[in-house]
Formats: sequence, C-alpha cells, structure tokens
Amino acid sequence: MASILRTSRTRPVWSALARARFSSTAPKNTTLKERLAELIPIELENVKRVRAEHGKKAFGPVIVDQLYGGMRGLPALIWDGSVLDADEGIRFRGKTIPECQELLPKAPGGEEPLPEGLFWLLVTGEIPTQEQVTELSKDWAARSAIPEFVEEILDRCPPTLHPMSQFSLAVTALNHNSAFAKAYQDGVSKKEYWGPTFEDSMDLIAKLPNIAGRIYRNVFGQGKLPAIDPAKDYSHNLATLLGFGDNHAFVELMRLYITIHSDHEGGNVSAHTGKLVGSALSDPFLAFAASLNGLAGPLHGLANQEVLTWLTKMQAKIGANASNEAVKEYVWATLKGGQVVPGYGHAVLRKTDPRYTAQREFALKHLPDDPLFKLVGQIYNIVPDILLEAGKAKNPWPNVDAHSGVLLTHYGMTQMQFYTVLFGVSRAFGVASQLIWDRALGAPLERPKSYSTQAIEKMFKDKA
Ligand SMILES: CC(C)(COP(=O)(O)OP(=O)(O)OC[C@H]1O[C@@H](n2cnc3c(N)ncnc32)[C@H](O)[C@@H]1OP(=O)(O)O)[C@@H](O)C(=O)NCCC(=O)NCCS
Repeated sequence: MASILRTSRTRPVWSALARARFSSTAPKNTTLKERLAELIPIELENVKRVRAEHGKKAFGPVIVDQLYGGMRGLPALIWDGSVLDADEGIRFRGKTIPECQELLPKAPGGEEPLPEGLFWLLVTGEIPTQEQVTELSKDWAARSAIPEFVEEILDRCPPTLHPMSQFSLAVTALNHNSAFAKAYQDGVSKKEYWGPTFEDSMDLIAKLPNIAGRIYRNVFGQGKLPAIDPAKDYSHNLATLLGFGDNHAFVELMRLYITIHSDHEGGNVSAHTGKLVGSALSDPFLAFAASLNGLAGPLHGLANQEVLTWLTKMQAKIGANASNEAVKEYVWATLKGGQVVPGYGHAVLRKTDPRYTAQREFALKHLPDDPLFKLVGQIYNIVPDILLEAGKAKNPWPNVDAHSGVLLTHYGMTQMQFYTVLFGVSRAFGVASQLIWDRALGAPLERPKSYSTQAIEKMFKDKA
C-alpha cells in the first residue's frame, strides 16, 4: 500500500504522503474495518498516481538464470505489509522487530507485543491503541468457534496424518461459510469485494486457535479442548487451547512467536501462494489453505520441525555437552550426506535473521541455562564457517527456524511435528492482510508468462 522507496540497501524512505497516512498511531475511537474504509479510497488514488507516473517504466533487467533459478530477485509482486532487506531483515510497515516490540500494545503484565496490534499495523500501517487491540481480542474470541463438521473432519483424521495436512484440510473446509464466496454468488460489485474478504480474514485468524488446539490434542492425546475466554488475548487463548495457558512465559512466547512469524514480504512460498490463489478470487480460506500446503515443505516452514529432528539426532549420536570437534564432524556428515543444515541459509537474507535474534534474546531472558539452547548457541559458532568453507550456500547464517523449536521444547511442547502449525497460525496474519488489500485495490488474476527451454534458445538464435 504505502510506497517504500529504497535509496540505500538498508533504510526504507517513506514518501511524505505515505508517512502522513501510515507511520503514525491510529486515530482513536475507530474500529479496524472503519479505519480501512477510510484508507482504501486514499490508497486507490495513490496507486493510480504511481501507475500514471511510473507505470510504463522498466523496473530492472530479467536474466534467463532467474527463470531457471526460482525467480530470485525478480521484481514481480506488490506486497505492502512488510519489506525484507537482505542485510537488515524484515520491517513490518517500516518497523523493525525491536521497534514493534517497543511500540505495539502489550497485555497487562506482559512485555511482548500483542499480535492483535501487529495485525492492525500490517493492515493500516498504524500503531493501534490499547483499547483497539483489546477490541480485536474480543472480536476474534467471538468469532473463534469452528463448525461442528470441521471438528468432525479433524476428529476423523488418523493421528498419523501430519498436523499440517490436517490444518490445511480444516482451513479448506471453512470455505463452507465464506462471506466472500457467498457475496460473489450473490453478485457483489467489485468495489465491495474487500468487505466480505475482511470478514473472512477476521474469521480465519479467529478460528485458527481452535483448529490448532484440536489437532494438537487429537494427535498428541492432551485431553479435552477448553473454551476460548473472551477476556483473554489471542495468544493467551491459543496457549490455553494447547494446554500451556497457565505458563506466563509460554504465553509471552506465543505473543512474540506470532508477531515475528506473521509476514516476510510477498515472495516466500506461503505468502506468494496465498496471493496467487486469492487472485483467482478464491476466498481467504481456500487461499490460505494453499499457503499452508507450501509452508508444510521442508525448505520453508517445516524447517522448524527439521531443526529439532536434526538436533535430537545429533544429541543421540554425539551426546549432550559434545565438544566443538564432535559438532563440526556431525555438521560435515550432514553436508556430505547430501542434506541441508536445517535452519541455516535463506533465499533473500544475507545476515543473521532478526527473527532468530529476537528468539535468542527471549531465551537469554527466560531459559539461559537450557541445554538445547546452549547447543543452538554452540552450533551458531560453528555452522556459518562450515557452510562458507563448503562454498555453496549464499547465506551461511541462521534463519527463524533455527531457534523456534528449542523454545517450544523448553516449555514442554516436545512434539516437533506440530511446530509448523504454529508458524501457520502466525502466517495467516500476513497473508490475510494482503488479501484484504488485494481485493480493495482490485488486484488482477496473476498470470505471468512461462517459456520452454526450446523457446528461450530460439529467441536468442533469432536475435543473433
Ligand atoms: C532456505 C533455502 C531453501 C534457500 O535456498 P536458496 O535460495 O536456493 O539458497 P542458496 O542460493 O544459498 O543455495 C545454493 C546452494 O547452497 C545450498 N545450501 C543453501 N543453504 C544450505 C544449508 N543450510 N545447508 C546446506 N546447503 C545449503 C543449496 O542447497 C544450494 O545447493 P545446490 O547448488 O546443490 O542446489 C536454503 O538455504 C536451505 O535449504 N536451508 C535449509 C532449510 C531451511 O532452513 N529453510 C527455512 C528457510 S526460512
């Protein structure tokens, strides 16, 4: 939405207009939907102006390697909620993770930002008031129930079906009650698309704790699912549904976890998939279920599960408190076996992921003596040099997934197959906020051009 220009590699420069509209605190006494209704016409004008001024200008060269190379660096998408800088990491509407931790409202007695505030920020670019965040918590609690038939779908899944597959099934099934799908069938005008998309997006986010909680308890046998408490914030309710609501530190971890995993600009697999599927006017449930299927891949969100599996195998092989030499040998064995070191490397980042750093700081505060945390620190001192020496990975530094599982394990959530579900709960915040804007701005069907190798050869032969 807001135009972010980059003069250097690090600092985003906001246009005066964008600054005036999107970098301040939210006006009081307005709901998120009311505020959106005010911002949409302004942004429609803004996009119209940007397209009129720059629409026909080239945005950079495309080289053939990008077509074969997973489209790295190809400018191809509009994504307003966040921008990723290779060195600095993510900014949500221009704000770094530490800035979000400082500026976003907190729960009484809490120090971590409430994801409700992050969602408001992603959607509007503004920092909401404490009251606005509390209203969002209440609104999501009121929308949180899932239809009985979705509960039954989950209860019928064999416990051997991966939690991510169950998650995706349940989210797909929520499309049964989609306000957007119904409005479309009823002939809603294009100009009104964003309203039912907003309602679906709010429902989607609101219902995820009940889905995640049910999967966790069904698969790992943790007893009956408690009810959502409308007086509690989203993360507190999620923690309660998972069975950790009495643990203040775990609740705080959920607040941080959901905030930092929410969005990572638009080109990553889950974000882009959601946008792509949404561009066919599939409703937010269908679009986000597709995101989840991408997140379930080991090179993307499943890496948080992979990291724990890898660490556990390492400990089984070389024991706890292993020497640096033993760890090095294990890392080399992983690489020589043709496998990746999970939790390291990134398609865009070229420095340590600030999401990793935020989790490390949380661990230093809450669990400094945890043996697995110490192992993660030991690995941090070893892996980058080895990846550099191996000479293939463009980024030898850790990403978000290198740390998250260790924190969850510390509090007793040891079932690593579940970790990506938590990532998915969070990722809904970023995907949903962009889907709302895509419908508001009338984003068209995505349909890039593909080429065969033969066509590429012919094109250059003809030009020669
Ligand atoms: C994230 C990831 C998929 C990015 O892929 P990418 O953009 O293609 O990364 P690169 O350009 O650096 O890859 C170049 C080569 O280095 C390898 N490489 C990258 N990261 C590596 C890692 N952590 N361990 C071993 N090898 C790695 C790639 O597999 C690739 O090998 P190839 O030429 O034989 O195909 C990759 O770094 C990876 O697989 N990391 C481990 C999984 C992970 O943590 N995923 C979560 C990401 S948030």
